[in-house]
Amino acid sequence: MADTHRITFEPVDIEMEVDEGEKILDAAFRQGIHLMHGCREGQCSACKSYVLDGEIQMERYSTFACNDAEVDEGYVLLCRAHAYSDCTIELLNFDEDELLGGFPIQDVKTRITAIEPMTRDIVSLRLLAIDPPTYEFKPGQYADLKIPGTEEHRSFSMATTQSTPGEVEFLIKKYPGGRFSGLLDDGINVGDELLLNGPYGSFTLKDGHVLPVVCIGGGAGMAPILSLLRHLVETGSTRPVRFYYGARTGQDLFYLDEIAELGKLLSDFEFVACLSESMDEKDKALCGAVEQGNVTDVVERREAQLSKCEVYLCGPPPMVDAAIAFLETSGVPHDQVFHDSFTSPTAD
Ligand SMILES: Cc1cc2nc3c(=O)[nH]c(=O)nc-3n(C[C@H](O)[C@H](O)[C@H](O)COP(=O)(O)OP(=O)(O)OC[C@H]3O[C@@H](n4cnc5c(N)ncnc54)[C@H](O)[C@@H]3O)c2cc1C
Ligand code: FES
Repeated sequence: MADTHRITFEPVDIEMEVDEGEKILDAAFRQGIHLMHGCREGQCSACKSYVLDGEIQMERYSTFACNDAEVDEGYVLLCRAHAYSDCTIELLNFDEDELLGGFPIQDVKTRITAIEPMTRDIVSLRLLAIDPPTYEFKPGQYADLKIPGTEEHRSFSMATTQSTPGEVEFLIKKYPGGRFSGLLDDGINVGDELLLNGPYGSFTLKDGHVLPVVCIGGGAGMAPILSLLRHLVETGSTRPVRFYYGARTGQDLFYLDEIAELGKLLSDFEFVACLSESMDEKDKALCGAVEQGNVTDVVERREAQLSKCEVYLCGPPPMVDAAIAFLETSGVPHDQVFHDSFTSPTAD
């Protein structure tokens, strides 16, 4: 049996045990400790922490998430890290409510109830929890769906909320040859079973926060933002909300009626579709505000007070990276930015 070591997290003063064969983030989940995380694949840096004391080694990770100089200084990605002695680790980001109060991670057997194309490359996949019959998560979180017939999984954000317990919708972008998304055309069907494991992710609304919310999403990044919007409506939130959605053309927009309906139920809401490739007169009529340009450029043109907002960002990694860089230069405090980068485990 692998050796077990004791980990102390500072400044929160929480202790736990970890086996050498287990990654520190996984050991924390197992013991009900929800550390800050994103991809859980060493790609996004959300779990980056600092080793104050002890011996740690990392499995394969992206140097974009933690570069060589940072590793030399003592930074680690907890989703990739194994401990080989007792360790003291300083958490650089943590959410005190979430740390010991997150929903437990469940294995859920589900049945596919619908597979519907939304655009030329985005599909809505609806699942019904069978065993157990409910699945608890916070709006904005994601689940791992197992690729049938393999031990691999892919992560997808829930678009729904707890108002439909057990019924979950995912919005999935199809990649040519994608191990999971490639199945959506003819590899999986309504009635098939899929195994879900979750919830994961820190892209959640924080209780008691009152700042205006600016959501920036692209492509399938619509999913967790829809979940956040639905939750804000269901809880009667009075926070002003702006939603900037990046797509290539008018043809790539979807759920416009649903977003408009949600917007009517919020006290102060605006949706802005940002089209990066082309825009014609017909596109301008699609929804209240349609602008030409990359989503980050449109946000820059329209939002003068971003540093007084909480910003929720999600979608393809290049969009998220560009938006994070822009928010930094715009002076938005780090703790007012929440993001999920839709990284792929197959990327280098
Ligand atoms: C926290 C989190 C939440 C996510 N939520 C969603 C979601 O709600 N909806 C969604 O569609 N996806 C989401 N993803 C991405 C998803 O998990 C998969 O990575 C993606 O669907 C590709 O998986 P695949 O098996 O279809 O393709 P793979 O077999 O992994 O890859 C097939 C090909 O597509 C390329 N590819 C894969 N992803 C990308 C990319 N982002 N950009 C460019 N090329 C790529 C690969 O390099 C490869 O060449 C999320 C990822 C994370 C980490
Ligand atoms: S790098 Fe660890 S959660 Fe993304």
